[in-house]
Amino acid sequence: MSTAGDTDTIDATPAEPASTEAAAKPAGTSTNRRQPFPKGFLDSISTGWAEHPDTVPAAREQAPYAAARRAAVSAAFAGKRLVVPAGSLATRSNDTDYPFRAHSAFAHLTGWANDAEPDSVLVFQPTADGHDVTLYFRERADRTTSEFYSDATIGEFWIGPRPPLASVAADLGIATAHIDTFDSFDDDIVVDEDDELTRFVSELRLVKDDYEIAQLRLAVEVTAKGFDDIVAELPRIIEHPRGERVVEGVFHQRARSDGNWEGYDTIAASGPHACYLHWTRNDGPVVPGDLILIDAGAEVDSLYTADITRTLPVSGTFSEVQRRVYETVREAADAAFAAARPGVKFRAVHEAAMQVIALRTAEWGFLPVTAEEALDADDGGQHRRYMVHGTSHHLGLDVHDCAQARRDMYYDGLLEPGMVFTIEPGLYFQIDDLTVPEEYRGIGVRIEDDILMTDAGAVSLTGDIPRTADEVEAWIARLRTGPADASR
Ligand code: GLY
Ligand code: MN
Repeated sequence: MSTAGDTDTIDATPAEPASTEAAAKPAGTSTNRRQPFPKGFLDSISTGWAEHPDTVPAAREQAPYAAARRAAVSAAFAGKRLVVPAGSLATRSNDTDYPFRAHSAFAHLTGWANDAEPDSVLVFQPTADGHDVTLYFRERADRTTSEFYSDATIGEFWIGPRPPLASVAADLGIATAHIDTFDSFDDDIVVDEDDELTRFVSELRLVKDDYEIAQLRLAVEVTAKGFDDIVAELPRIIEHPRGERVVEGVFHQRARSDGNWEGYDTIAASGPHACYLHWTRNDGPVVPGDLILIDAGAEVDSLYTADITRTLPVSGTFSEVQRRVYETVREAADAAFAAARPGVKFRAVHEAAMQVIALRTAEWGFLPVTAEEALDADDGGQHRRYMVHGTSHHLGLDVHDCAQARRDMYYDGLLEPGMVFTIEPGLYFQIDDLTVPEEYRGIGVRIEDDILMTDAGAVSLTGDIPRTADEVEAWIARLRTGPADASR
């Protein structure tokens, strides 16, 4: 939706007083809700306002980091004009939009994150010795225009004030200009249109700087509190016929109040739903005796996100079979963590986890072949029926960060200090899987930790969140408010 450009078409015929709905309509559609502004309103609306205070802030903490990233882009694309769009509002339905979320490459190269303006563009204009970089955005409208009171998408009366050019320039340490002065050209090299630039800005995020690592730690901290909140609320969650929704809501409350948002839709998957890897429908009950798999991550103001999964016994105690499955997944996660060292291929982390999954599922008699045969790269894979996803992905501004990086730099790349990635093996026995005994069916377990690679080896950023079966049971016993009815 955009009503930009529709700001000077106000019908000045005196009529009904303007309601708050008066201008909330997309340009060019029916005017059935639009109330013309009466003459008295139009005569007076532009006057009687105090001057906007001209605050010019100090550069934000991430400004020098973003400058170093822009320097890397400039050096790699000498003589080329580059355009990095922030992206636009996306329509949810009719005249309502999803909340704006800036493109990760834009946020990375500007430091403008949850406060970025939609439709902004960062432009690298080539010069004799590098690039002049300018950030174009829609500056705050002058009050002599009708935009500020009549435009539901960009008007100050509707969405709040936008910052002036000088303020953003000082805040980010980048030259700024009004979006109306931005020209695009046929030979512009644009992120998400040009493969080489898209790949470069994705690979530029593979190794995190100190600012990014601190932000990821913050995202983990908020997320850990969200998991504590869920554990504390288990009795209320069990009571509700859509307990999964309550789990999602409890986490959302923490993410919103302590951070910016969630980095992805929360997965609250109870009982057999845990076997659906990205179960975000979250409309089922949470039943004592089952496990609930919760995969959630708070995205903080800077847009860095955590990505953490814990699987809890709803009653507070694992059954024998649940514990066996859970501890096997933990064994796979620990094996993956032990394999993660600087200089090792990223894929070795996955392979270490899968070895445990193959060994245990073979031992339990679930595979039609030996573990060794299942692990054969060409003819095996039978164990992957129970864990079809990868063990790890990079994590940062995007939950699946650096997704446009070349395979040689990613799955087949070497682990380096500064990389942040998940370790998240799982075992999922679908409710109708005839290859496993009945008592395993409907059990899904995933344990997901966020890992920072350092010179000295891998460090778990999420290691303080209870992980072992014993720790998880003690966590529930400690935080759960009131007795859970384990008899149902
Ligand atoms: N947290 C969901 C995923 O990693 O795919
Ligand atoms: Mn993940």
